[in-house]
Amino acid sequence: MPSQTVPQKEATISYDGKSLVLPVIRGSEGETAVNIEKLRAQTGMVTIDPGYGNTGSCKSSVTFIDGDKGILRYRGYPIDQLAENASFLEVAWLLIHGELPTADQLRDFTTSVTRHTLLHENFSRFFEAFPKDAHPMPVCAASIAALTTFYQAPETDENRDESMVRLIAKMPTIAAYAYKHSIGQPFMYPQNKLDYASNFLRMMFGTPCEEYEVDPVLARTLDMLLILHADHEQNCSTSTVRMVGSSRANLYASVSAGISALWGPLHGGANQEVIEMLERIEAEEGSAEKFLFRAKDKNETARLMGFGHRVYKNYDPRAAILKKHCDVVLARVGVSNKLLEIAMKLEEIALKDDYFVSRKLYPNVDFYSGVIYKALGIPVNMFTVMFTMGRMPGWIAQWLEMRQDPDFRISRPRQIYTGHVQRDYKPIGERG
Ligand code: CMC
Repeated sequence: MPSQTVPQKEATISYDGKSLVLPVIRGSEGETAVNIEKLRAQTGMVTIDPGYGNTGSCKSSVTFIDGDKGILRYRGYPIDQLAENASFLEVAWLLIHGELPTADQLRDFTTSVTRHTLLHENFSRFFEAFPKDAHPMPVCAASIAALTTFYQAPETDENRDESMVRLIAKMPTIAAYAYKHSIGQPFMYPQNKLDYASNFLRMMFGTPCEEYEVDPVLARTLDMLLILHADHEQNCSTSTVRMVGSSRANLYASVSAGISALWGPLHGGANQEVIEMLERIEAEEGSAEKFLFRAKDKNETARLMGFGHRVYKNYDPRAAILKKHCDVVLARVGVSNKLLEIAMKLEEIALKDDYFVSRKLYPNVDFYSGVIYKALGIPVNMFTVMFTMGRMPGWIAQWLEMRQDPDFRISRPRQIYTGHVQRDYKPIGERG
């Protein structure tokens, strides 16, 4: 077990002639935090931190990020070692249980996930209710929330484990069904002989008319992409999952809320926006310079999508891994690498441009993931769904950690009220 956080030193806050001593806690990687839990009770003050950029909302032993050094580790293991050597289900087990699985544990877990991939038959009718052009993200969020209606047993340790397996198992089936519905093709049932990523690719691209041969290199690439997305500590969607779960909402409801949070263009939706940006630049005769000029202009709304990160002030290690794999995948499927060329040109210019350098804006995971998804044949509006599939074990691990935390409390931030002070109601005829 990693070392627990322990009070190390104290911090003193002085205000209005009084001072208060607050405990400082230290994490296993040396991060320090002032514990302000007693601040309001003792001074009447709260802290304010818009966007929570400087607020630790929990103690967690799942994922460590050092944004300045470009480090990402799951349960202590560097992301590059996991991406190159482990399978997605192995990483899912690691995130949820805290240790790498033994051979027996991995076999049993894989069997369990494989046997839970089917959706209840009534689910196909559920999909029919959505318009054909529905974005697959709200379809997935609604479907995951709807799973609660099929699994209503009160939460116990045992059925909580089953819910975790179900979510990981059914997510690719739901994702592929959402896609098949949008293009008017019949749903493909999962096939138990296939591994996780191959099964998904077959459900996406196979039809009942002919056998679909999964390319093992592409399946492995997809598996690696899922690993890279599997957790990222207290980001917007994970914090949402924790916040919703803190009311003791069940795992399906909490994860469904996380999917909605992930849909936003500043979070998971960025990989879709990256491809749209690259395609726009291609249509405008490939002028990366012209686009960068607009991205820097404060009068323009354009941003260089796939660049910048709330936490990484250095190259996102996931982007570095993906950049290496782009060439392999593009060569394998034999598609033009025009978009990759534009992406690399944008990166090259941006990394020399004082605007991006001074703000420490580097490529993030979304900058290259879209190029690979596109090469794999994944439609652009499914990119965020791929992110959702990958993030599932992380959300589960964080939700579980929150539930098992002895200091667990419902999330309830404070505010600084800036509205009107008290005033009296006026009947409609007396309002000016
Ligand atoms: N292009 C141009 N300018 C940018 C960009 C960008 N991509 N990102 C940040 N800036 C500027 C921003 O205008 C601000 O400038 P100034 O100080 O002059 O006002 C400064 O850099 C700081 O930006 P911020 O918005 O305060 O930074 P943040 O930490 O709140 O936001 C971010 C982080 C990811 C939302 C932002 O960098 C962004 O919008 N990037 C593009 C969208 C994107 O790629 N999102 C995917 C994030 S990675 C996936 C994930 O882990 O969720």
